[in-house]
Amino acid sequence: MAEHIAVSVQDRILTLRLDRPEKKNALTRGMYVGMTEAIQQAESDSGIRAILITGAQDCFTAGNDLTDFANARPGESSPALVYLKTLAAAAKPVVAAVGGVAVGIGTTMLLHCDLVYAAPNARLQLPFVNLGLCPEAGSSAILPALLGYGRAAEMLFFGEPFSAEAAREAGIVNAIVPENDLLATATAKARQLAEKAPSALRITKALLKRSGAGQIADAMNEETKHFAALLQGPEAKEAMTAFMQRRKADFSKF
Ligand code: COA
Repeated sequence: MAEHIAVSVQDRILTLRLDRPEKKNALTRGMYVGMTEAIQQAESDSGIRAILITGAQDCFTAGNDLTDFANARPGESSPALVYLKTLAAAAKPVVAAVGGVAVGIGTTMLLHCDLVYAAPNARLQLPFVNLGLCPEAGSSAILPALLGYGRAAEMLFFGEPFSAEAAREAGIVNAIVPENDLLATATAKARQLAEKAPSALRITKALLKRSGAGQIADAMNEETKHFAALLQGPEAKEAMTAFMQRRKADFSKF
């Protein structure tokens, strides 16, 4: 089992819990591999009917590990992309329970979960531009479709944190649940799904996803090209260095 990922199976639900509290559950390459393997395990095991993704009560994930970003080499494989594609293609229903920060991929992965429950302390954020990067996970297509262009642009241009309530209004979160009930509620929803007729549920999910799938896959491919180039560029280098040095990034020279 991958480090910092806790996987358990109960009541036909595979629960994948992000567990790297000392770094706010920032996702390393190894963690993406573990998360991908867990979803693949759930997909191939007929005894598993639903997948639940969660973190800690006060922290879902601070997003991609910024040290990994800073050390990324040109042309290197992207376990994050493999994870996102595996999640997006999951045939079984995926439920997420989100408390605390959900930054970057911590928010974009939610766009590929079927049901998202958030605690009032949830803080979502898409700080790609602030990091000298661009959107990922098909979010450049999904967000305008969900929110309209103007609100999606605001979210992605400024990269400011937004509340659980704002995420619910945006349609990213299904419901807000008190912090102490969050995991139990999300688990109960997953259990309800696990009791449904499995083929009917999977086909319903596939049908719901069908119309947008081509556009999302296309956006993901386009984003990936730009993301990889930007990650090697000077703006991202400045942003990552600024994070490590705990100072504000200075983009004035570009
Ligand atoms: N990658 C690597 N390390 C991270 C991290 C990340 N994405 N996010 C947090 N950490 C580390 C910090 O460096 C710190 O490590 P240290 O104790 O060894 O110095 C530790 O986790 C705690 O983080 P800290 O910033 O002190 O916690 P906070 O509660 O003040 O703030 C966040 C939490 C998530 C708001 C803040 O850490 C943050 O903005 N992180 C970067 C998020 C980001 O840009 N992710 C990439 C998205 S694409």
